[in-house]
Amino acid sequence: MCGIIGITSTPNYSPEGVAKLVVRALLRLEYRGYDSAGVAGIVNGEIVVRKARGKIEDVSRRLGFDKIRSYCMIGHTRWATHGVPSDRNAHPHTDCRKWFAVVHNGILENHAELRRRLERKGHVFRSDTDTEVLPHLVEDYYVVLGNVMSAFEKALGLIRGSYAFAMISVHEPDKIFFAKNKNPLVVGIGKGFNTVASDIAAIIELTRRIVVLRDGWYGYVSPHDIVIYDERGEPIDWKKYVITVEWSVEDASKSGYPHYMLKEIMEQPVALQNTLAGIRRDKAVEKAINILLNAEKIYITAAGTSYHAGLYYASLTSILSGTLVHPFIASEYELYVKTINEGDAVIAVSQSGETMDTLNAVREAKKQGAKIIAVSNVVESSIPRESDTTIYTRAGPEIGVAATKTFTSQTLALYWLSIHYALARGSINQSEAKELLREAEKAPWLIRRAIEMSKPLAEKLAAEISSAGSMYVLSRGIGVPVAMEGALKIKEIGYIHAEAYPAGESKHGPIALIEKGFPVIFIVPNDPRLVYLLMGNIEEMKSRGALTIGVLSENTCRECKLDIRIETPYADKLLVPFTHTPFIQLLSYYIAINKGYDPDKPRNLAKTVTVE
Ligand code: M6R
Repeated sequence: MCGIIGITSTPNYSPEGVAKLVVRALLRLEYRGYDSAGVAGIVNGEIVVRKARGKIEDVSRRLGFDKIRSYCMIGHTRWATHGVPSDRNAHPHTDCRKWFAVVHNGILENHAELRRRLERKGHVFRSDTDTEVLPHLVEDYYVVLGNVMSAFEKALGLIRGSYAFAMISVHEPDKIFFAKNKNPLVVGIGKGFNTVASDIAAIIELTRRIVVLRDGWYGYVSPHDIVIYDERGEPIDWKKYVITVEWSVEDASKSGYPHYMLKEIMEQPVALQNTLAGIRRDKAVEKAINILLNAEKIYITAAGTSYHAGLYYASLTSILSGTLVHPFIASEYELYVKTINEGDAVIAVSQSGETMDTLNAVREAKKQGAKIIAVSNVVESSIPRESDTTIYTRAGPEIGVAATKTFTSQTLALYWLSIHYALARGSINQSEAKELLREAEKAPWLIRRAIEMSKPLAEKLAAEISSAGSMYVLSRGIGVPVAMEGALKIKEIGYIHAEAYPAGESKHGPIALIEKGFPVIFIVPNDPRLVYLLMGNIEEMKSRGALTIGVLSENTCRECKLDIRIETPYADKLLVPFTHTPFIQLLSYYIAINKGYDPDKPRNLAKTVTVE
């Protein structure tokens, strides 16, 4: 949940040193965590560390990160787990003699015990973090072994937990040592330089040739060398693992937009177009259908926004195939995993492919003999690697902490899967499938139109309701997952308490909260029966004084008792994620802007949650 960068170069590649590149990479990594930042570099044979609490831009300017003249540097942006956000807890951390500097993502489970042991030997700690045990351990072993790699290996052998480490040392001043276990880390391959990073987005301006490291792998990079060992300490022929990423620098920058979140909302037509093009040409859907057809039970698991995409899939598959899909929140896997049998199918949805809760659910389901179908936006990430097949969305990098374009891309991929599954099991015929797939082809156009239609109204409404303390987002049937996604966006970006539930539940309790002006947003799918039922729910809210806001297809439900109508393009009810989601994304974005918050960096959150 933190960001790591390490760059080592020859003076030829980067005559002034690599500090400016490190700062730029850190800025691209800020979405990973942003309570403190720091860098360390080798300068004239010594380690220079600069770090502090605060946002990268401020800390870097104040401490002059980019003034460090070094050819071998590491950097870190932190989302605190052990130790409060503070200057002393910011990474990098060093040992007593300042021979080593380390940055770390993850959690070291046995840090307290190791720290006690090291303190008994005379080591002095200068932070409250779990991370600091590593440089002291390496120092301890180096004194005996006199070799950095051997000392690093020994230290890794003592550590339990999750980690991605990057470490520099005065003893081998052009090398960055690294290790990975349960936290993402990639090696970026250059000419005259090499890099390590927690995210591809951080190094995309330097190189597109990368090796995605696997759990247990460790090694070092120097400007001309890359050495990687596997979990048994055997050298790896890493050239076999090089992939070329398709993302461009443009994809990973704001391109003139004030925030990544707005850029990513606006990019949705292209993200959907690319997702469609990708699914059409790869074989993953076919493999997934085979797994699904042979399964007695189908589960779908995920966290947060991806879980809402999973709920959409479950509703859709019930509508199209009459098949019951069991959705479960990944962190609750213990309740469900015992019901999974050999050959059952588990669909794991994760844009990052690294969410620890989802990864755990996948691992436990596999132990039960389940087949895993991943839906992910990041090639070679952990969940796809551990799955039987992966349907990739092609939304491009999503930097804003709020999932936007990845949600609509996931729902499109799952829509595609659900149609093919219904066809394969004979629940729909060829011509029905063709018709539904034609509808899917409209998704990019529909979302473009939905953005155009709802943007000005979202901005206007945000100004009116920014001061609300609470609101409801209601729907029925296929619209409920979109309502749930809307409530999550309003909470995480707009900092307004928002609750979503199927509108029929109002009378069973929640309506008690309604008083004059209480905002209730209705996601109204384009289905006469749902419109009719929701009309009643709107009426019951209106008559108790609620401010009723309806998101609905143009020219439908003219008689609905709505205070505010947000019209979206007319489309089949099953396409509700593409017609109705943009409004609520934009509303939460503009609420944040109205309140003076940064929508890209919501408090207490980080983009990829790699802890349980
Ligand atoms: O990378 P994943 O899709 O697995 O992430 C799951 C959630 O952490 C994520 O969707 C989170 O809820 C977002 N902040 C929502 O905007």
